[in-house]
Amino acid sequence: MNLDDVPALARVDQHDTARILTEFPEQCRRGHALPAPVLGGARPRLIVVAGMGGSASGGDMVAACGAETLDVPILVHRGYGLPAAAVRDALVVATSYSGDTVEVLSAADVALARRVPLVAITAGGALGALADARGLPRVALPSGLMPRMALGYLVFPLLAVLAGCGARVTSAGEVDEALEVLAAQADELAPARALEKNAAKRIALNIGDRLPAVYGGPLTATAAYRWKTDFEENAKVLAVAGAVPEMNHNEIEVWRGPAAANRHIVLLREEGESAQIARRFELIRDLATPAAGGVSETWARGTGRLARILSLAYMSLWVSFYLAMLHGIDPWPVPTLEEVKRRLASR
Ligand code: F6R
Repeated sequence: MNLDDVPALARVDQHDTARILTEFPEQCRRGHALPAPVLGGARPRLIVVAGMGGSASGGDMVAACGAETLDVPILVHRGYGLPAAAVRDALVVATSYSGDTVEVLSAADVALARRVPLVAITAGGALGALADARGLPRVALPSGLMPRMALGYLVFPLLAVLAGCGARVTSAGEVDEALEVLAAQADELAPARALEKNAAKRIALNIGDRLPAVYGGPLTATAAYRWKTDFEENAKVLAVAGAVPEMNHNEIEVWRGPAAANRHIVLLREEGESAQIARRFELIRDLATPAAGGVSETWARGTGRLARILSLAYMSLWVSFYLAMLHGIDPWPVPTLEEVKRRLASR
């Protein structure tokens, strides 16, 4: 597949994912403008974001943005129920784009049973119905997207909900910067932009048939995990994600044997990383390059944490899109994970 052949891409991209991705900056703008509830009551001592898959990813990114400045811990809970620490002085944000994810519904049930303040962020489904029936504070999202492609609707309303309960993560300036950075990227990464000037196409081509291993630092490891799941859901390609420095203590061992030739490293860098982290990225590159199937590097854009993390997430959406194209795969449907949900529901 020639990634510059736009009509050929459109034939594989049967659900017009390219358009959804091109509109992603606008989606973020709309997500930022959605009305969010202002919660009364005391400032929470713990924020639990309950979500799975693409919906949990918004929680991960907000938690990473707040990690250095917010004095309230944000715990992203992926699973049934709620952790024991979620008690009445906490806030539970149930995030499910579809509103029908059973783990999130179970978390909401436990929050109600424990009388933990609960907010829903959803486009509808059973969670939307529960919020309506119980009069819960809710952010109503527009429907019609794949959850993983609705990241703008999951991140920005969550930021607003947290700001509304006294746990502000980002300033207005940081939000504006993120929106500007994403708008610039939309032009640079779109299918009409030729390979030599399109970093997302180049990374996808560098990966080719190899297994991608994505490594990030203290801020960007969250994005690395997002890259892994985007490769898996969009391109249907197994990927691994790791965090620097932790991977220096284990995973680094896999990069000098002959099997490394079948894998490709992607390093997610940012200008705010410390000298220690920068040194470790250089070491990974030096040690892995001789045996690895290749090493790519991409840098976050902007100066604020929100712009940096979202710019890497946006790059991930595009790289996984182009990798899907290279494999002749429509990135939109996820039939196997949907079958799991169907089978669970039928029991
Ligand atoms: C599918 C996707 C999945 C879902 C997950 C939870 O596009 O991204 O990872 O996000 O199955 O579903 P929701 O987000 O609807 O709660």
